[in-house]
Amino acid sequence: MLYSDEIIREVRAQNDIIDVVSTYVPLRMRGGRHWGSCPFHQENTPSFTVNSDTQFFHCFGCGAGGNVITFVMRIEHMDFVDALKLLADRVHFILPQPGDSRAERVKHAEKAKAAEYNKIAARFFHEQLNAQNPFASEAREYLKVRGVNEKVQTLFGLGLSPPGWDNLLRHLTASSTGEAPPTPSDLHKAGLLSMSHKEGNRYYDRFRERLMFPIIDPSKRVVGFGGRIMRESADEAKYLNSPETSLFNKSSQLYALNLARKTRSTELIVVEGYMDVIALFKAGFTNAVGVLGTAITARHVQLLRRNGCATALLLLDSDNAGTAAALKSIPLLLEGGLRVKVLQVPDAKDPDEFLQNYGAERMGKLLANAQSHIVFQIGLTQKKYDMDKTEDRIRFTEEAASLLAPLSSEIETDAYVQETARASHIAPSAIFAEVKKQRDRINADGGQAPLRQSFRNVRKGAEDPGVREARRQLLCLALTHPPAARALADSGCLSPEEMGNDVFSQILALSYQNIFPAPADIVSRFETTEAQQQAAEVFTKPITYSTLLEMEKSLNEMAVIIKRAFIDTQIELCGSKNDLNAVNSLVLSKKNLQSQYITLSNG
Ligand code: GTP
Ligand code: MN
Repeated sequence: MLYSDEIIREVRAQNDIIDVVSTYVPLRMRGGRHWGSCPFHQENTPSFTVNSDTQFFHCFGCGAGGNVITFVMRIEHMDFVDALKLLADRVHFILPQPGDSRAERVKHAEKAKAAEYNKIAARFFHEQLNAQNPFASEAREYLKVRGVNEKVQTLFGLGLSPPGWDNLLRHLTASSTGEAPPTPSDLHKAGLLSMSHKEGNRYYDRFRERLMFPIIDPSKRVVGFGGRIMRESADEAKYLNSPETSLFNKSSQLYALNLARKTRSTELIVVEGYMDVIALFKAGFTNAVGVLGTAITARHVQLLRRNGCATALLLLDSDNAGTAAALKSIPLLLEGGLRVKVLQVPDAKDPDEFLQNYGAERMGKLLANAQSHIVFQIGLTQKKYDMDKTEDRIRFTEEAASLLAPLSSEIETDAYVQETARASHIAPSAIFAEVKKQRDRINADGGQAPLRQSFRNVRKGAEDPGVREARRQLLCLALTHPPAARALADSGCLSPEEMGNDVFSQILALSYQNIFPAPADIVSRFETTEAQQQAAEVFTKPITYSTLLEMEKSLNEMAVIIKRAFIDTQIELCGSKNDLNAVNSLVLSKKNLQSQYITLSNG
């Protein structure tokens, strides 16, 4: 969704930074400024200031800073658009509907309505769980047996869909507010009703006789539900999720992310089941999220990153299905710039059962000792081989070396080489040599071009607005889509220096080093408000691409525009020095620009 500069400015203007910050941090006036304790780092004496004139906040302790939008982004762990929405809501400012097309407006309205109906449904289910009837008592007893106390029930908004075919249907279609109630068709689109094609089209409650788990997204919308049967049954699926709707897609949601993000933890525990998340929360591990019965996707990775996660700790069930899925997801998580730890629950089926049997303290120890994905992968590899056979030891060591080859840290490499050596009884030096051989092979196949680290400031003249916009968009793309940043870096097509502008070139360099801080954190890397503003500008209008090809095309177009502008400044420079040879070769390289093309691959 693109919001115009006017809209963004208007939302900012209506949200005075002092008011907004005060709702999170107590402020005191001193020396013409407001002061408080910085919410972004631990401190005893207040070094966090908010300036009502410039509408900026700044912390002298940790360097955090930016405007009211960056403040909300940072404190709520939101992306730009969500922060803008929150601020708009706060002052009852109505943001325009996304896009201009009618289809998009309809979709937007449908989403908003679905969220509204889901919310009412969630309340209904919650009331049903607490109702005075035998079925509700049975449900409460079931939860009690599973150790889910009332506090946890409330925290997760757990509920109950009663027996019968139309309890929810009747509840939702009965108007109580005077507004026109939703039609069954609306509720069907929202995923709350199913339709039977027998005897004409008849709508009925999708969720019946199930324990209900509302799925709430980071902007606090109820996007869907999971429902669990309470008595094991051969005919019915244990869990039933909302179907795919305008609002719900199980591959792009994480259960309890709305709660886990509040811990501001940079490490999130990722588990497989609803009940695992709930059990972890109850035991005090409130940084847990759950995948909804799917494999981890790139959307999940993005979601994790956007919510402040730097390390994903995959806490797996002990069965093999989960292990295989985890193995596939590791490259995706790494690609997204996350650190990955993997831990398989020992001596129990899943984390929930482990907690029931061994308690929170042992879980704490387990989590604290979770190891890097490399150790997990090496461990799995080792299981495939018989360490008493020489052939197998060799094979194992070669495979382990290929796992270590992509590591950039020599220290890490050394540690794992030692471990591999211990397991295989092959000399560390031989394993090292193998790792190096494989590294050389990777590099020869077009590995990373050496980074030019110098940020020489190229000419500070008037900037062409088109070039500036290309820079902005390219950075936005590189930062929100790590594989694009990597492809760009690998192509060697555009160096940070060629970015041509101090702030932008530094941001590009970060993405080349696979560092993808949250937008607000990038802003705070710069000291002057001018530079902060410029850095924040990168995110003012997020661009969405509907296809990979579209993104690829756009990436290439922007790279060419920026590169051409850089060459032009060089031509001018050489021309003024009468260095005609240099000018000629620059003109030639300008002509060749179109022949360079960066290809983005999926995943
Ligand atoms: P409990 O059996 O209540 O402890 O649940 P669990 O969360 O441990 O379930 P399990 O480990 O069997 O499955 C993990 C996750 O996969 C669940 O939380 C669901 O999201 C999903 N899942 C499991 N069974 C089904 C099913 O029958 N249908 C669907 N759609 N999803 C399922
Ligand atoms: Mn379980």
